[in-house]
Amino acid sequence: MASIPCSMTQEVIRSQFPGLQTDFVFFENAGGSQAPGCVIDAMTDFMKTAYVQTWAPYPASEAATKVFVEAHDFVKVMVNADGVGECALGPSSSVLLSHLATAVGKTLVPGDRIVISSCNHEANINPWVRLESQGIEIVFWDPDPVTTESSVDELKSLLNERTKIVAVPHTSNLLGDTMPLNEIVEAAHSVGAQVCADGVAYASHAAVDVQDSGVDFYVYSCYKVYGPHMAVLFGRTEALEPLEGPNHYFNQLSLAGKFELGCQSYEGCAGLVALKDYLRLLAGDVEFSRDTVVKAFRVAKCLEMPVMTEILGFLNSRDDVRVIGPTEVGPDRHPTISFVHDTKSPEEISDAVCAQGIGVRWGHAYAARLCSAVGVNPDTGVVRASGVHYNTPDEAMRLVSALKAAIDA
Ligand SMILES: Cc1ncc(COP(=O)(O)O)c(C=O)c1O
Repeated sequence: MASIPCSMTQEVIRSQFPGLQTDFVFFENAGGSQAPGCVIDAMTDFMKTAYVQTWAPYPASEAATKVFVEAHDFVKVMVNADGVGECALGPSSSVLLSHLATAVGKTLVPGDRIVISSCNHEANINPWVRLESQGIEIVFWDPDPVTTESSVDELKSLLNERTKIVAVPHTSNLLGDTMPLNEIVEAAHSVGAQVCADGVAYASHAAVDVQDSGVDFYVYSCYKVYGPHMAVLFGRTEALEPLEGPNHYFNQLSLAGKFELGCQSYEGCAGLVALKDYLRLLAGDVEFSRDTVVKAFRVAKCLEMPVMTEILGFLNSRDDVRVIGPTEVGPDRHPTISFVHDTKSPEEISDAVCAQGIGVRWGHAYAARLCSAVGVNPDTGVVRASGVHYNTPDEAMRLVSALKAAIDA
């Protein structure tokens, strides 16, 4: 990782975030990230000047329409979708995945198979499992119970010519690893199946590239990527075309629009578009382009490394702790770090750390099936500390001290 230049100081970065101007330490970013001032200001300005319905021929509506269109263009750049597919906006990834599974379900016949990674957040499991009631065979792809790794060879053994969908997380919101998406897509496509990847826990840390992975469907939640409470569903053109979305019969013509049921958050769209300015700052770019996204996330990844090193270093040094996920720092490991202690409950540890002004979380984080698959009690779950690029090494040291005190108390 030494080759990646960390040109941007964290002081400058943190000064962009109004929410970071207190002593509180945010290590609950996998639950939701903070938003920079440019996003917050754009949303407020929009609500003051253009808070009306789109597509009418008067100035405020024209301004709202412009923002709505630009938000779609922006998220297409975010996932590198230009020329290969479209992006629908929605209130959350859970809603968009639910709509997608229902739409895909209408194209399936009894006996078709769906393979689901148990490492998924429930948002990319439950909508597919519901299709069992129409005769679809649901098969789970489990990780190794000890190493927590998912083997692509094992996946291949679950695929057959009836397999229509493979549903995987790009990164698990509990393990912090990165799945080999390109290999998964290749394996799925070799039997004619499509891949639906949940990128919610990936997109805050790295540039999503749907062209590189060849994935058919991809979702991410904007509120975990420094933006508003919205989400994005990418679909490849040929994958979206045959689907009937949840929208009204007269709104099925646009590939994205058929999944955009009702009005979108137009003020959220304004916030999304303004995120360009923050990414430009991170990347050191004057103009915004796809290259800006790639550069910005390279800087972000570089800043995450010392934080991950500090936290994992401490956890690995303890005989009484089990890290749930990869124990080593690396470019494909994100700072979403989960662990359990031999005797102290996740709740006990998490409460003690939160009482020190450091936000962490305990529980199964909606990855209850993953907990069961790797020998963690889903009722108690894990302690999860999740950083992003604005977390400093000092904050990581504060977290480590608080964890040590909580464990040794
Ligand atoms: C990996 C993952 N997928 C899906 C979701 C659900 O996202 P949303 O809140 O946008 O429905 C979450 C939320 O925590 C998540 O972490």
